[in-house]
Amino acid sequence: MDLEKLFKKFNSDKINHQYHKVYHSYLNSLKSKKLNILEIGVADGSSLKAWSEFFRYSKIIGIDIKDINLKKRKLLKKNIFFHRGSQIDKSFLIELKNKYNKFDIIIDDGSHYPKDVIFTFKELFNSLSINGLYFIEDTQTSYNHFFGGNPFDLKYSNTHMNYFKNLVDTINYKEIPNPFYIKGKYDGLIKNLSFYNNMIVIKKGINDVESNLVLNNSYENKRYQTKVSRNKKSKLRYFIKYKLIFKFYTFVLFLINLIKKIILLRF
Ligand SMILES: C[S@@+](CC[C@H](N)C(=O)[O-])C[C@H]1O[C@@H](n2cnc3c(N)ncnc32)[C@H](O)[C@@H]1O
Repeated sequence: MDLEKLFKKFNSDKINHQYHKVYHSYLNSLKSKKLNILEIGVADGSSLKAWSEFFRYSKIIGIDIKDINLKKRKLLKKNIFFHRGSQIDKSFLIELKNKYNKFDIIIDDGSHYPKDVIFTFKELFNSLSINGLYFIEDTQTSYNHFFGGNPFDLKYSNTHMNYFKNLVDTINYKEIPNPFYIKGKYDGLIKNLSFYNNMIVIKKGINDVESNLVLNNSYENKRYQTKVSRNKKSKLRYFIKYKLIFKFYTFVLFLINLIKKIILLRF
């Protein structure tokens, strides 16, 4: 049975949000694999039951801050595992990671509070397998001050939408010709970050594609290397142009931007 039918069969509200379409596009080809799937937020267990039937050969691991009566919720199935705990309890998450080692798919359908979503992502990313998928549902809370979001400052507030919008730059980390750029924790480890209505999907994976413009955070070094390899006789001219003049220009722009950041308190 496909995911849409399963979500309908178990009355999952993933249908109302139209999440089934996004899930189908990422997960349909994985259904016969043997995976570790973690869903944060179990509630009445409707999604766990759908995952359990869809991913017959996988472990479906559900966590919830509340205790869930597995018998009453008809969740006593051989591929469903439940652990009670909070998504913002670091030691609980460490225990979970130690128990299952790696997760291939993580779904955050828990508290939906921006700071919780960011915390959980930071804690669980290292347990996501290479090529693993991380889904975050109900990102509309980012825009709602009654859920810890901020509708008045869409660009600079501490919401999960802003956190993940900023994380997009990690995909192009090799393209940043800033000699003072500090390599980020996720640089080289995220292949794709997609935004859907009320949902974000992150695909982990090795991203080591070399830039055609920048070498080790320097445009000047790349240009110098390319030019000299084509014409060794003009080495001195290229050195003056790229290694001195261009680098000086980059440094001046760096200083201007640093002053701007200090004035605007934007780091
Ligand atoms: C939207 S419901 C989950 C629905 C379920 N995933 C489904 O699709 O059928 C959210 C659940 O997250 C749980 N929750 C809230 N805060 C949590 C936290 N800090 N850690 C873990 N679970 C939490 C709630 O108890 C609730 O059962």
